[in-house]
Amino acid sequence: KDLLKRKNKHSSILLVINFDSIALLYLQLYRVTCDQSYLLRSLDYVKRTLRNLNGRRVTFLCGDAGPLAVGAVVYHKLKSDCESQECITKLLQLQRTIVSRDSDLPDELLYGRAGYLYALLYVNTEIGPGAVCESAIKEVVSAIIESGKALSREEKKVERCPLLFQWHKKQYVGAAHGMAGIYYMLMQPAAKVDQETLTEMVKPSIDYMRHKRFRSGNYPSSLSNETDRLVHWCHGAPGVIHMLMQAHKFAEWCLDYGAHGCRIPDRPYSLFEGMAGTVHFLSDILAPEASRFPAFELSSSQGDTKVQKDY
Ligand SMILES: *[C@@H]1O[C@H](CO)[C@@H](O)[C@H](O)[C@H]1NC(C)=O
Repeated sequence: KDLLKRKNKHSSILLVINFDSIALLYLQLYRVTCDQSYLLRSLDYVKRTLRNLNGRRVTFLCGDAGPLAVGAVVYHKLKSDCESQECITKLLQLQRTIVSRDSDLPDELLYGRAGYLYALLYVNTEIGPGAVCESAIKEVVSAIIESGKALSREEKKVERCPLLFQWHKKQYVGAAHGMAGIYYMLMQPAAKVDQETLTEMVKPSIDYMRHKRFRSGNYPSSLSNETDRLVHWCHGAPGVIHMLMQAHKFAEWCLDYGAHGCRIPDRPYSLFEGMAGTVHFLSDILAPEASRFPAFELSSSQGDTKVQKDY
């Protein structure tokens, strides 16, 4: 209760104390103990929330998508496939509001499109690929990307940050309301964002954000805010770190060069089109402070001292 009282003051994360998250907690206890009674308890809570869908909010954490996605998974684990399918059908019925261009739905995780995308990806991760069809995921992803591009154009940041997002007119950085959470979702392999969008839109945007880091190592809560105060998952480094790790994993994924069905360039081993470029990029990640564009950018003396580090 005390937490709920404070909720207005401290971000909306505390709205997340609801039946749905308790269902999720029991599901987690079932996962680690394999004790069926936890699954049945989870079902109890799922049933309660499913009776109270409000049709207003659409995300996993704060909206109807959460109970529906968790419900689909719990019913699936209980082998009640009919009920599970019914939850998925209802989940997909929310899609129309999500992709509608005239809706003023944000893109962030707690109330916006990324939070709905998570619900779809969660169902496919837990039940199996295809439980939610790929075209549904694709439409949500496109809606997020179009929205990010539009704001970037509006703010004249197309070159620096091709995908820009805002919530309540602020360009939040963190995981819950900001770009870290959205980029993180877009980098999930299950979201099937095409490689070109990842390298040409998502990556430069992440690089732009990386440069907003404070000397302390923390991140600002929004792009225009220089106050280094909040350090939690919603605002600050603890939310940004997941995104950075995902970006790093994406770099590793590049290592399986040629295995993703991507187009083979004219010179597959070359520095500017092929494998050598990928290796160059990966070696840059070992010492990012000393990275430079090959055959173009000259070294800064600062970069040279840093590269001496042993890694
Ligand atoms: C800047 O961020 C701090 C928290 O880090 C917050 O308290 C403050 O209201 C923000 N200021 C503006 C202008 O958004």
